[in-house]
Amino acid sequence: MGKGAIMDPRLLIISKRMEGVKAVVPVMSPKGGVGKTLIASSLALAFAERGRRVGLLDLDVTNASSHIVLGVRLSELKPIEEKGLVPPLVNGVKFMTIGYYSCGNPLPLRGGDIDEVIKEMLATVIWSQLDLLLIDTPPGISDEVLDVISYVSEPRPLIVTTSSKLSIASIEKLLKILTESRVKAIGVVENMVVSEESAIKDLVDRYGVEVIGRIPYDPFIERSIGDVRILKSTSFFSKVMNLADKVLMRLSL
Ligand SMILES: Nc1ncnc2c1ncn2[C@@H]1O[C@H](COP(=O)(O)OP(=O)(O)OP(=O)(O)O)[C@@H](O)[C@H]1O
Ligand SMILES: [Mg+2]
Repeated sequence: MGKGAIMDPRLLIISKRMEGVKAVVPVMSPKGGVGKTLIASSLALAFAERGRRVGLLDLDVTNASSHIVLGVRLSELKPIEEKGLVPPLVNGVKFMTIGYYSCGNPLPLRGGDIDEVIKEMLATVIWSQLDLLLIDTPPGISDEVLDVISYVSEPRPLIVTTSSKLSIASIEKLLKILTESRVKAIGVVENMVVSEESAIKDLVDRYGVEVIGRIPYDPFIERSIGDVRILKSTSFFSKVMNLADKVLMRLSL
């Protein structure tokens, strides 16, 4: 920060709010539609299933969608206001989304406004004690992604990609930014795979990160979206449970 610049006091509040959170895992990929939301929401359920105290924060503020996976009716559930916002518990997950307030209406925010909303959400939500806080991020290397790695101390991103060259080229950019920012990814998940062979092995070797999950394309996943009971019975979810165990092992949680 330049000489004479005033630090936003919310940054101090954010670190206070995160004091009881053992690990923050943003789920990231610059490429859209690779499965970040489905994986972040399912991972949160998997950690809860493993008896961990878990939170899920949807930071895709202009297009929040984790609630759709979890089957949350936004008009029926609200955080409790108590010198901050206490997120409701959904299937064992403390779940926070701006959708509680926008209720499915579009939020056409520009860069500076998005940064404000993110700072406000990070500074206002009371997570108390958590083993893990998962953050669903939007596609792109934009405000949400840059804000998370600069406002949260020691984030451990989980990077999601498909096997497509288009997605792989974009995660290389993210890996470069993380390396420059000295942020250590927890690992990479190759999602919607249709072949036994990993398409990302060379890339992850070059950046010293590990592939910690390979999730096959599941043509039946759509019917489970919005119904947690069905979601938990899918082969997709059993792969997510394996992924959750690897994350817990890596974080020693
Ligand atoms: N393993 C899978 N098998 C089949 N379909 C999948 C799988 N993973 C994700 N999908 C589907 O791919 C689509 C995109 O998933 P999702 O919305 O989670 O991606 P995203 O990366 O969060 O997208 P965005 O970048 O727009 O936020 C959804 O329809 C989802 O159900
Ligand atoms: Mg998404």
